[in-house]
Amino acid sequence: MTERIFINEVGLRDGLQNQPKIVSTENKLTIFHALAAAGLKAFEVTSFVSPKAVPQLADAADLLKSLPDDPQFRLTCLVPNMRGYERAVSAGARAIAVVLSATNTLNRRNINMSLDDASAVCEQVVRKAKSDGLFARAYIAAAFACPFEGQTPRKIVFELLDQMTTAGADELAIADTIGAANPKQVRDVFAAAIASYGATRTVAHFHDTRGLASALAWAALDSGVRRFDSSIAGLGGCPFAPGASGNVATEDLNFLFRDLGFETGIDFDKLFDAIDLVENLLGPGHGGRILPWYRTQRRNAVAE
Ligand code: COA
Ligand code: ZN
Repeated sequence: MTERIFINEVGLRDGLQNQPKIVSTENKLTIFHALAAAGLKAFEVTSFVSPKAVPQLADAADLLKSLPDDPQFRLTCLVPNMRGYERAVSAGARAIAVVLSATNTLNRRNINMSLDDASAVCEQVVRKAKSDGLFARAYIAAAFACPFEGQTPRKIVFELLDQMTTAGADELAIADTIGAANPKQVRDVFAAAIASYGATRTVAHFHDTRGLASALAWAALDSGVRRFDSSIAGLGGCPFAPGASGNVATEDLNFLFRDLGFETGIDFDKLFDAIDLVENLLGPGHGGRILPWYRTQRRNAVAE
């Protein structure tokens, strides 16, 4: 049987939070439905953060309430603190993600907490989510490097992963937030994570800042990772982490995995329709590294 790769589409959250243009709730829904038609099932849909900090996602509650209440989809909402958790739950969230950066400075810039406070708050939110019966994911952001503090000590990353695991996190998203990792570091960190926490809990989250994201994905895959985050058209980046460019593109990852013989459940023509839609809404200049090649293939097929 073909082995399956699980993709969590983060474009609506990680992608849109960093766009200068605010996308309407209606257009977010259109993007969601285009991605669902392409076969994606797991989405990070929004953040319940301060609307002053991230105005692009100020419609979090309206968006969540408008999305299909259908168990075939997992719709995760990022929450930075207990207030965000309560807002998410009252809007109907069944899956949440906490975001814990591995350095003091990035926690301070991102959620205005020290590392100690952020880890305590994230632990509390994960525990609460689990006791309320929700799915809980914990991000460890800047797991390889921090824009303010340089290389991240691996020991801290694993201490935080242990803490989130003990709190009950269902998923651990190890994030190269600024796209600074190299494939060897990725291989080492993910092999150790899989050995400690298992392949069903470990998720790789890459950004394509230096054009290495597919190489990082390959290194993670080769270490046993089967769960990846990606963003349609490579949208993304953290407004509070300077230098973070777009996430690895959903189309690049899916092509890579399909070529390697994995089952992705994706209809590629529909996925590329979704990219056309994103470009219509946000303007040209988006898209993964595979996009120019794919468009040429499509044109040639029509011309034949
Ligand atoms: N949702 C909405 N509003 C929130 C909130 C939440 N989760 N948490 C706090 N607030 C509001 C407070 O009610 C208060 O509102 P007021 O000014 O109208 O009284 C204001 O924000 C300040 O509250 P405070 O607890 O002092 O928060 P803060 O200023 O320390 O900011 C965060 C903390 C987490 C809310 C803010 O840093 C944030 O939203 N960051 C965004 C992080 C993010 O999205 N990063 C990218 C993804 S990793
Ligand atoms: Zn990210």
